[in-house]
Amino acid sequence: MPFTIAIDGPAASGKGTIARALAERFGFHHLDTGLLYRAVGAMGGDPIAAAQALSADDLARPDLRSAEAGQAASRVATIPEVRAALVDFQRRFAARAPGAILDGRDIGTVICPQAAVKLFVVAADLTRARRRAAELGTDVEEMLAQLRERDSRDAARTTAPLRPAEDAVTLDTTAMSIEDAAAAAVRIVQSRL
Ligand code: C5P
Repeated sequence: MPFTIAIDGPAASGKGTIARALAERFGFHHLDTGLLYRAVGAMGGDPIAAAQALSADDLARPDLRSAEAGQAASRVATIPEVRAALVDFQRRFAARAPGAILDGRDIGTVICPQAAVKLFVVAADLTRARRRAAELGTDVEEMLAQLRERDSRDAARTTAPLRPAEDAVTLDTTAMSIEDAAAAAVRIVQSRL
């Protein structure tokens, strides 16, 4: 049985960094599932048709990291048919040997409810805004407002809202360095291998 790790949490909580560190440490495949929604949002036109036609090549667009692409992603992510069209791709990825790490919002709750390890990564709003603003070279206040808007849309939607799975381990990275957060996640995974 391949080993699946589900990592969920709000934007800029550190889940992507943790996922990459775990992938490197254990030699597992990694999928940033936010890219799927960003790609659908960036395609324009009918988001349901875009989600149904999505291919792995569409995830390589360099403009998907922008704050605008994040906002567009969180709008198309509220559409149940868009989410449904992306399930198979994610589940097939999760089954890759020797193991796979998926990070997103609904991995532990909807996409991989049987994952061997589920992490829910959180951090204080201002810390997340500072991290993302530094990454993108934008204003902290503006980033804070955007993250809050996106988080409340993600948590309030009826299909697959952002919330921890019952059996998820919560990791608060507010006061942690990247190295500390990665080391904490490695310890949790090692205890379940
Ligand atoms: O993780 P990232 O910030 O790239 O995600 C962009 C948006 O895509 C999120 O705000 C969320 O609305 C949506 N998303 C989702 N489910 C996932 C991953 C991302 O709804 N598994």
